[in-house]
Amino acid sequence: MNKKVILDCDPGHDDAISIIIAAAKTSNLKIEAITTVAGNVEVEKNTLNALKVCDIIGLDDVPVAQGAGKPLTNKMEIAEEIHGETGLDGPLLPEIPSKKPVDQHAVDLIIEKVMESDDDITLVPTGPLTNIALAMIREPAIVPKIKEIVLMGGGTFGNWTPAAEFNIYVDAEAAKVVFESGVPITMFGLDVTHQALATTQTIEDLSVIDNDVAKFVVDLLKFFMKTYKEFFDFDGGPIHDACTVAYLIDPSIFEMKHVHVDIETKGEYTYGMTCVDMLGVTGKETNVNVAYQLDQKKFWDLFYNALSSYTE
Ligand code: RIB
Ligand code: CA
Repeated sequence: MNKKVILDCDPGHDDAISIIIAAAKTSNLKIEAITTVAGNVEVEKNTLNALKVCDIIGLDDVPVAQGAGKPLTNKMEIAEEIHGETGLDGPLLPEIPSKKPVDQHAVDLIIEKVMESDDDITLVPTGPLTNIALAMIREPAIVPKIKEIVLMGGGTFGNWTPAAEFNIYVDAEAAKVVFESGVPITMFGLDVTHQALATTQTIEDLSVIDNDVAKFVVDLLKFFMKTYKEFFDFDGGPIHDACTVAYLIDPSIFEMKHVHVDIETKGEYTYGMTCVDMLGVTGKETNVNVAYQLDQKKFWDLFYNALSSYTE
């Protein structure tokens, strides 16, 4: 049975891979829409990148809508040093994609799709949560109709500050709206996404897949690995965002724990932190399903099979 999803993203190398896995023949996900948000780079570039990914995988029948160009209250911060000036540096891509965005704001498209649904759409944000928060604020009636939010963000440590992960940090006020909305949330934070590390061996394994999509992903990974080595001394690039769709396709890949999570929006050193109560010390009601362990073989088998499925 196809699970309906809306991918809200800021492509971004790992967002692009997430779209590719979600759209693969091996996926049981039905992409209702792709929406973009300011994050890795400016929203205009993220939108162009989403459209280019759709061109590469032939995703013609899914609407792509551009969303928020800045966080709710913060000034914009981008991660150009990780993803490059285009936000998708590495592969050689055409300047102008053939696919066009729809003439509708992402927030309105999310509201429209959820309101007309049978409460069976999962939102899959893999960038800052600005669009999701704006949709909830603009139309509160969508909140009880969202099946689940499966997001990449947060963790028990940070990659943008010592306490905060980028997606949450960029718009912690939006994250607070979303985490306190009451919608069921499944969170893929850095604790688990850093286990999804694409190494030189990964690239070697993927390089035997003889199709253009796999070749595109290999070029993405080569660039992503280089910047993660340079900035974090990692021996691979963590495919953060792909954990969300991998979970939706095969939940058995991950070990989860239902805990309480608060979003810090006041701390001088902790702004943007997901306060993950792994030991239940707050005694607060649990509100988030947090992934903490990934089955390497299952994850990479899914990854490999998804890319292989693009061979005609
Ligand atoms: O911190 C990692 C997250 O920030 C990923 O979603 C990556 O694409 C960037 O948006
Ligand atoms: Ca992202």
